[in-house]
Amino acid sequence: MALPPNFLDELRARTPLPPLIGRKVKLTRNGRQWKGCCPFHNEKTPSFYVYDDHYHCFGCGQHGDAIGFTMQTEGLPFREAVERLAGEAGLEVPKESPRQVAREARARDLHDVLQAAAEAMQRRLQSPEGRQALDYLKNRGLTDETIARFGLGWSGAGRGALAAELNPLGIEPRQLAEAGLVKPAEGREGFNDFFYNRVMFPIRDRRGRIVSFGGRILGDGQPKYLNGPETDVFSKRRTLYGLDMAREAVFRGKSRLIVAEGYMDVIALHQAGFDGAVAPLGTALTPEQMEEIWRVTPEPVLCLDGDAAGLRAAARTAEMVLPLVGTERSLHFATLPTGQDPDDLIGKKGPTAFQAVLGAAKPLSVALYDLMADGRPLGTPEGRAAFRNDLAAAAGRIPDKSLAAEYRSALLNRFFETTRPPRPQRQAGGGFGPRNGNRPGFKPPPRLPPRAPPEAGNTRLEQARCLLAIMLAHPWLLNEVEEAFALLELPHGHPSALQAALLAWHADQVLTEVSEGETALLDSAELMTHLHSTGLDEARDWVMRATGLPREASSDAQPGETLDGWWHFFGFLRGEGALVEDLVAAGRDLVAANDAGAQARVIRLSQALSALRRGETGLEDGAEGANP
Ligand code: UTP
Ligand code: MN
Repeated sequence: MALPPNFLDELRARTPLPPLIGRKVKLTRNGRQWKGCCPFHNEKTPSFYVYDDHYHCFGCGQHGDAIGFTMQTEGLPFREAVERLAGEAGLEVPKESPRQVAREARARDLHDVLQAAAEAMQRRLQSPEGRQALDYLKNRGLTDETIARFGLGWSGAGRGALAAELNPLGIEPRQLAEAGLVKPAEGREGFNDFFYNRVMFPIRDRRGRIVSFGGRILGDGQPKYLNGPETDVFSKRRTLYGLDMAREAVFRGKSRLIVAEGYMDVIALHQAGFDGAVAPLGTALTPEQMEEIWRVTPEPVLCLDGDAAGLRAAARTAEMVLPLVGTERSLHFATLPTGQDPDDLIGKKGPTAFQAVLGAAKPLSVALYDLMADGRPLGTPEGRAAFRNDLAAAAGRIPDKSLAAEYRSALLNRFFETTRPPRPQRQAGGGFGPRNGNRPGFKPPPRLPPRAPPEAGNTRLEQARCLLAIMLAHPWLLNEVEEAFALLELPHGHPSALQAALLAWHADQVLTEVSEGETALLDSAELMTHLHSTGLDEARDWVMRATGLPREASSDAQPGETLDGWWHFFGFLRGEGALVEDLVAAGRDLVAANDAGAQARVIRLSQALSALRRGETGLEDGAEGANP
């Protein structure tokens, strides 16, 4: 018998998986997750990963949640597994009332009705009557595969056609009305179709069940999009388009969770490989939707249109999330070029352009300041004081006391940095100075003395070449790793020259971004041109020489693996002593601020350290000893 979904959600939330599974499997930490040898098949090297709310074996494919794990390892049926876990979690399993049973049966019916309707609409899209709609979707760049994956369809012309088609399946008009597909006709008996002459987008819940539809008119006309009405299974403010697929992709580390604005953005992003895309349904993001998003990831990225309306929407969202954020859940803001949505940008400039936008995303603390500072008169003491008060008040809306204090000091530091007279220009040569002044709460890490032990010169040179090659192919990395990169003592000659050039180039891009209010698109081709114009052709060619480069240096490497590769080589180049110190410092930051950035740094640094201690060089055999 079915149990209420919110009870099961509560049970899952109260049963973190690592300790549960840890009783049966020896688990070790692996970044944000845990891993161990799979209990479901025989293996010697661990490929069984445990996340907060699910597990997955990359060896045998077994996966599930706490309930599934208990069923499988204890051989219990669903209900008994739930009772066992509920007992341990101190929850009472609700008894089902006949009313509940009836309501659930009806919800199940609604899902079936919606599914049948979706299938009918998909068939229509492929039939002669859907020809125009199919052409429309293809003209917008969607592949057959994408159209199938999202289950896109054609509503037909209405006039009861859908009801007639579904009637032989035993689906009655009353059920279509409950599913939001038809509505009572005005002034006569019977029903009218809710959607007609529209391209149809099935909307799924987080578990992948169809709950409603959106319909787009072909070409121009109003309203452009129509969403189904609220029903027993569809609540607009709780639903995010694409969440079922995004959840999966984010769990697998395939993509960040990206919040875009509309249906077509989500679809275009998926097609371009950003499978973590979701969108609200024509309204501003709601607190309920944020809660759904945070169940998937602590650090989603919100994509904003760079125009005035986009900025206003961003400011509203920032306001809305302040009472909800914590050390484990925040938000990044990525700004799109003015007047373009992700669909436009990818269509015109390709996935790399969008990746650059993502790479330049600002954390909430930074975006909040920018949004609040926008258009503020700071020329008078009154204006400045009012702004300061507002900044402090914004920080005060964060419920976690320590986090609120961190925000307060970050926002106010930035305020004082900005409102006091400009300091002398950046140091010559170094190039990594200016960015720091703009960053709230940033303390430059102490420069460590150069590491003494001379080591195999060629290995080091080759490691530097690999690190630089990854950066030349993926300049957006600079946004993520600039501080760490600036700390490296790279070998003299090509490596150190390129390091200085990259840092200076990045600082310039960021300065332009700040002064012109535009997001710097850190583009590889542009960087190459820059290196050429600064006379670094030879250094560039030395780096890009085809032999011995890691996979991450190819332009089609995924962002996640690119970052991993970068930190890998960083570890070798930084050296053990300095890495240990970095790790200690990052650990201190983590304890003090407990933010996601510090946590990520600790993880990266410990991974780098253990690779180093295992004595790896990071280079393929034979790659060492290459001449500069
Ligand atoms: P946009 O007007 O930005 O449309 O609406 P779009 O996503 O770029 O659509 P295309 O590219 O022209 O097809 C963004 C979202 O707002 C909702 C829809 O969810 C849409 O995806 N919307 C928009 C409505 O609900 N009704 C409308 O009339 C327009
Ligand atoms: Mn669009």
